[in-house]
Amino acid sequence: MNIYAILPAAGIGTRMASNKPKQYLLLAGQPVIIHTLRTFLSIPRISELVLAVQPSEIEHVQALLNEHGLTSRIRITPGGENRQQSVANGLAALTAEPDDIVLVHDAVRPLIDADTINRTIDAVTQHGAAIVGLPAIDTIKQVDRTAHGALITSTIPREYIVHAQTPQGFRYGLLRRSFDEAAADGFTGTDESSVVERAGHPVAVVLGSPRNFKVTQPGDLELAEFYLRQSR
Ligand code: C5P
Repeated sequence: MNIYAILPAAGIGTRMASNKPKQYLLLAGQPVIIHTLRTFLSIPRISELVLAVQPSEIEHVQALLNEHGLTSRIRITPGGENRQQSVANGLAALTAEPDDIVLVHDAVRPLIDADTINRTIDAVTQHGAAIVGLPAIDTIKQVDRTAHGALITSTIPREYIVHAQTPQGFRYGLLRRSFDEAAADGFTGTDESSVVERAGHPVAVVLGSPRNFKVTQPGDLELAEFYLRQSR
């Protein structure tokens, strides 16, 4: 059985006050994406990483990988218009068996740790599908968006809520089938789990960490540097 990881990194990061996509911004002197890649490469049982980047960035990213000495076990593939399409392109680039495991991880979650990745792989081995999730701390409200602002319609007990993070891992056969069904039905999800859930397969949750957040908005790089300093 082989284990692969797809890292969607083709976003343009419009919420960050920068003209560079967030995956290329510097975190403690190195691009965000390099931190993410190094952690995945530190796990010997992952045979290959597929990095989906904007087609216009392919040469730049290849040069970046060479510069940082990351030359083996990484393949670059063109990303798509949305995250799901980028992951679909990564899946199409793999030659895998149905029982192989595919992990998908946001390139912009650079503080993922090897232990969490390994626990995800183990849960996928057991359940066929597993994602990293963080139990809710705040009380969660469901709202109606009206012309006068949001109005609460109900309170969802927080013991039923987890925030979906990545990695999200699946048997290759299951993920491929679920993606094909979603494409046929015109469904676009914001994560892979939602695509597999609608195909009717249960998805297990592995405990995540607040450190594994998605670098999204101004201030997030400073927070990531703070966490990095803490772990040294
Ligand atoms: O936009 P969002 O924060 O949800 O992006 C999550 C991940 O998906 C990022 O690593 C981003 O680069 C990637 N992405 C992608 N292709 C897109 C849009 C986002 O690979 N078209």
